[in-house]
Amino acid sequence: MLRYATAGVLTRLCSSSIFQSVKHLYLIGSMGSGKTTVGRLLAERLGLPLYDVDALVEQAAGATISEIFERFGEARFRELESATLEEVACRPAGVVATGGGAVLCERNRARMRQTGWLVYLKASLETLWGRLRRSANRPLLRTATPRETLKSILEAREPLYEEADWVVEVDTLTPAQVANILQRVYHPVPDTPLTIPVLAGQPHGYEVKIAPELSMHAATCLLEQIHPTRVALLTHRRLLRWAEPLRDALARRGV
Ligand code: S3P
Repeated sequence: MLRYATAGVLTRLCSSSIFQSVKHLYLIGSMGSGKTTVGRLLAERLGLPLYDVDALVEQAAGATISEIFERFGEARFRELESATLEEVACRPAGVVATGGGAVLCERNRARMRQTGWLVYLKASLETLWGRLRRSANRPLLRTATPRETLKSILEAREPLYEEADWVVEVDTLTPAQVANILQRVYHPVPDTPLTIPVLAGQPHGYEVKIAPELSMHAATCLLEQIHPTRVALLTHRRLLRWAEPLRDALARRGV
């Protein structure tokens, strides 16, 4: 599921010009949330470069993240991470897979905000732990009680992650579905609604569609997908202004 964390983002979504001024899409979120996997898929679809901050740090240091932590400690890793992020911020537009702790530094957050959109891939502790319990290359989880460690790291960082422009709740989505959603966020296709699966694959699953002038699309989609003869339109009285065109569009098609 995707929601809009900052006021006005929906309006911005509908104005294509804003996207031209945007450079990067920064994927933020906990380790195990899928930033690298989603980033790779998304970069491919958008035809943009992928900047994987952890991989770039490893390249620059000539050592793995675990080795950097072991030899020089976390503080040194954070310096390298900030320097890499700073360097990436100046590169041509791309998808940036950040490390889970990149948001800890105020300067990193400010730099990301200045140079792109922040997208939080939000996953529950259960999902994250399921993915990370066997991971050998997360030095921060090398403690006596790694699940508890992950829980407290997540709790401490959650407010920083929530500052993102977009939050995608990834628990029930595949990386490809997350990439699809973000592809549309970055490059809205005129006249085609952004479709967000909720509870995908489950019996009560449904889709949320977002677009300017949605009524015409909603009518066409409904008719193509389920061929109804009757439709009950449930709405709030404040939204009648938008519901009426949909009712009329359906009526014109004999529903
Ligand atoms: C870290 C997350 C890791 C890596 C390092 C520290 C963190 O990246 O940068 O182990 O502080 O959460 P991923 O989020 O890609 O696993």
